[in-house]
Amino acid sequence: MKEGALQILYRTYEDREELEPDERELLEKAWEATDHAYAPFSEFKVGCAISLVDGEIVLGNNQENRAYPSGLCAERTAMFFIGAQGRGADIRKLAVRARSLKNPVTRPVMPCGACRQVMLEYEEMAEAHFVILMQGETGSILRMESVKGTLLPFPFDLDL
Ligand code: THU
Repeated sequence: MKEGALQILYRTYEDREELEPDERELLEKAWEATDHAYAPFSEFKVGCAISLVDGEIVLGNNQENRAYPSGLCAERTAMFFIGAQGRGADIRKLAVRARSLKNPVTRPVMPCGACRQVMLEYEEMAEAHFVILMQGETGSILRMESVKGTLLPFPFDLDL
């Protein structure tokens, strides 16, 4: 028997002014993106903003459907839009934020497992760091420098 342990690196910021201006802007855009979320069922509106290698910012939000599994998370809506244009390898930074119509969201939004797997594969495609910024409506900002070994330490891999 062997036992293992992982060290996961992350940063938390209480003050957005401590972030680089491009990351502050990305968090602001992710907030704006919650406006167009379609979330009548969960009433949990998620917004995502992704910056590409050339500085372009692409927005996404969760899109629900009355046939529940047909909906999609904000992060994948944005990433697949970019991927569909052949620009998946251009992704460099992703910010995600959320607000709930039921309770204030005061903790960072943690992307679901499926979105983490998708992030990981675009990170591999890019061969560059994929920075993730997470925040609620208010409260601290969580920042990770990459997906591999941090947000998704044990990814699914076809290469078994
Ligand atoms: N959701 C996202 O958009 N991103 C996540 O990472 C987690 C969950 C959405 C899916 C659904 O529309 C709502 O949040 C509640 O689960």
